[in-house]
Amino acid sequence: MEYFTLYNGVKMPALGFGTWTLRGEEGRRCIGEALAVGYRLLDTARMYQNEETVGQAVRDSGLGREEVFLTTKLWQPSNSYQKAKSDLDRSLQALGTDYVDLLLLHEPYPERLEMYRAMEEAYKAGKARAIGVSNFNAEEYESLVQQCEIRPAVNQVESHVYYPRLELCRTLAAQGTQMQSWAPFTEGRRDLFHEPILMEIGAAHGKTAAQTALRYLVQNGIAVIPKSAHRERMEENFAVFDFSLTGEEMARIGTLKGPDSLFGWP
Ligand SMILES: NC(=O)c1ccc[n+]([C@@H]2O[C@H](COP(=O)([O-])OP(=O)(O)OC[C@H]3O[C@@H](n4cnc5c(N)ncnc54)[C@H](OP(=O)(O)O)[C@@H]3O)[C@@H](O)[C@H]2O)c1
Repeated sequence: MEYFTLYNGVKMPALGFGTWTLRGEEGRRCIGEALAVGYRLLDTARMYQNEETVGQAVRDSGLGREEVFLTTKLWQPSNSYQKAKSDLDRSLQALGTDYVDLLLLHEPYPERLEMYRAMEEAYKAGKARAIGVSNFNAEEYESLVQQCEIRPAVNQVESHVYYPRLELCRTLAAQGTQMQSWAPFTEGRRDLFHEPILMEIGAAHGKTAAQTALRYLVQNGIAVIPKSAHRERMEENFAVFDFSLTGEEMARIGTLKGPDSLFGWP
């Protein structure tokens, strides 16, 4: 596993496991398998309604709490300082832990400043080892940086070969903020797994299109959190640190880039 070191010194796995839609018994099985495969970062959110499942899967795995990097996110119903504060405590209780490794603000809600203030306090109180944001564009990010006390350690955004957002990644990096990709496989909106350029480049390394797509992001300094409910795919997606793409291959994959979000984000 490779790591990105956040500006406060916290080491975050470059590759984690997304848990959106993984709930209940089936969710617990999938998350347990991901941990058995070797994933050490689990990405959940208050919105996913699976924090209990994630916490249970970690306990069932026999791994120590400190061996697993847990990310959760505060969402829109926590849209005040007070609600953000108490909902974080609910998240911790659901996860069965007294701290998360990364606490994100799920979206740039109108009440983001007061919600972020509650997150800063949580950071100072040791309830989160790092805090950050999600779905902030460059302007929203810059504006928060101007107004906050503790700048975001991470911005988790839509990023994949069709919309990698390398410029946003550079803007964030200039202030020490790590970019993390959600939907690195486009959540199935494009058939990335049969994309000829990815298949051809991957084949030259004995890798699949999925592995090549993840490698492209990681090699651009972007952390990834792919989701799969299938163990063989979890293993496939995990095996992206034993090869490198050449500059020419990176440039070719760069030609897949389109101008727009596939999810309709402004
Ligand atoms: N911050 C945010 O607003 C936000 C938004 C969206 C997502 N997220 C986070 O990002 C994580 C990842 O995004 P995502 O789950 O939306 O989508 P994704 O990881 O881009 O794609 C998941 C889809 O790809 C399939 N898949 C995975 N590996 C594959 C492989 N090797 N070959 C073929 N198909 C494969 C999965 O199918 P199977 O499961 O059937 O294998 C699933 O249908 C989420 O789980 C969540 O934790 C955050």
